Amino acid sequence: MLDWKRSRKILLCVTGGIAAYKIPDLASRLRKLDCEVEIVLTKGAESLVSPLALSTLSGRRAWLQDDFLSDKRGFEIPHIRLADWAEVVVVAPCSAETAFGLAQGRADSIVEAALLATRAPVVLFPAMNVHMFEHPATQQNLRILAERGVRVVDPEFGSLACGYEGKGRLPETDLILEEIAYALSPRRDLAGRHVLVTAGPTREYLDPVRFISNPSTGKMGLAMARTAWYRGAEVRVILGPTPPIGSTHGLGIQNVVSALEMRDAVMENLGWADCVVKAAAVGDYRSPNRVEHKIKREKKDTLTLSLEQNPDIAAEVGGNKRVDQFLIGFAAETDDVVKNARAKMARKGLDMMVANDVTVPGCGFGADSNTVRIISRDDETQASGSKEEVADAVWEMVVHGWLS
Ligand code: C5P
Repeated sequence: MLDWKRSRKILLCVTGGIAAYKIPDLASRLRKLDCEVEIVLTKGAESLVSPLALSTLSGRRAWLQDDFLSDKRGFEIPHIRLADWAEVVVVAPCSAETAFGLAQGRADSIVEAALLATRAPVVLFPAMNVHMFEHPATQQNLRILAERGVRVVDPEFGSLACGYEGKGRLPETDLILEEIAYALSPRRDLAGRHVLVTAGPTREYLDPVRFISNPSTGKMGLAMARTAWYRGAEVRVILGPTPPIGSTHGLGIQNVVSALEMRDAVMENLGWADCVVKAAAVGDYRSPNRVEHKIKREKKDTLTLSLEQNPDIAAEVGGNKRVDQFLIGFAAETDDVVKNARAKMARKGLDMMVANDVTVPGCGFGADSNTVRIISRDDETQASGSKEEVADAVWEMVVHGWLS
């Protein structure tokens, strides 16, 4: 976990949408990150989600419309205090009414007043009936807010409480947490950069039901992608088959299966990329003749496989890259880690290599943490921690090398 995600000050504004029932979960998840959470509800939200549940989960009494300009709790002028205190303000769910009020600069509720008063980044999650969302008035209000620098996160498609199917659902808590992290990220030093990441294993099918692969889960590659996104890059990921491994929000994911598919996808995106991160564990060999029907075991005591080599995607990219492109490789080694990694870096034309010894317990395939040597042509450093922390250390070195 990156340390800047923890112990932050978050103001949650809950407005009148049925999805308000999901906000206690968000408050609880933020508290688990040691964040301080203040919650303000509109009158509409009060009837949809229990202020007591929110107060209990945030560990503070939630602020209600009755507290606005009231001498019960209002002597502190809560909308100003909260607006100044917050490091990020989240409006979830954001009703059509609140979007309208904010676009107009209205301040006749505690939520609107706090939103008008804050200088913190505002992230807004509209959630409502699909026709209300698509109405030109709502769209215009959201556009006005986006143009003013509010981050407006589109609702998701699916079944809505009103019985409709369409765009209007509040995104899952994981996605909201990712957007909060994005808003809080301390650096945007990859803004304007295009980062292409390959991640996960590849599968080389022998017949319709069997394949050769490796235990890569794509965690390290996705950590590279996510941390580049936090730093402001536009990110595309060419992802081999992986189990669900956390949020891919903000990342343009293209799924592939085999090494040849991965190669084609990389080549298609190469012109777009400023930086290519080759974190995938690409299969070195494939079956030259994948058979149409399942290979039967009857009358076969042994089965001999003849395999042919896959293209080395990193070497192909390294051999043809533009002078302004930066290429990062990953090396899973079992011996002579740095020596082997340096040799690979030179052979494949890479600018940086992230090498790890996969024999060290708790590192490498499937693990949540990693210890690596980050090697550039004229520098070398060690990084250790969660895969996200290691990924961020790689970007730190990239920013100070390639971009300085
Ligand atoms: O497998 P190897 O140790 O050579 O991998 C080093 C780097 O080369 C990694 O970044 C990996 O993603 C990349 N690679 C590739 N295509 C291959 C094999 C490896 O892009 N066929």
